[in-house]
Amino acid sequence: MKIAKFLLILIYLSTLSLQSLIADDAKMKKGLEIFNETAGCAGCHILNAAGAEGNVGPNLDTVDLTVESVVEMVTYGLGVMPAYGEEEILTKEEIETVSYFVATSAGK
Ligand code: HEC
Repeated sequence: MKIAKFLLILIYLSTLSLQSLIADDAKMKKGLEIFNETAGCAGCHILNAAGAEGNVGPNLDTVDLTVESVVEMVTYGLGVMPAYGEEEILTKEEIETVSYFVATSAGK
């Protein structure tokens, strides 16, 4: 009886981590789509994981990035870099998703 309960908990926990893996995969795919298509970041930046070869902005594979620093940059822009948040080009959720994708895949 105790073992059965333990096994149930184990199965429950493993489906939880599977769900979060699937959610993460979906977020990365969506982030890639925003990077290359919706927002056109690829037109200005190099990012190996996205096959992006833009040369207007810095090479994102060689700079130090966190999700927060990318969110900040994408929201407010700088110089030629558009302010995707302030100009309402992307939603908050899209900005979070593309920033997660960039920070996770940069340098890989
Ligand atoms: C029109 C060209 C252009 C587009 C489109 C563009 N960027 Fe940029 N980006 C730049 C430029 C130029 C800079 C450097 C700004 C500066 O330092 O003056 C920059 C800077 C950055 C930085 C900071 C890099 C560092 O040095 O720390 C990040 C991160 C970034 N961009 C991500 C993105 C993402 C994500 C997108 C798409 C949502 C995007 N950019 C779209 C031109 C662009």
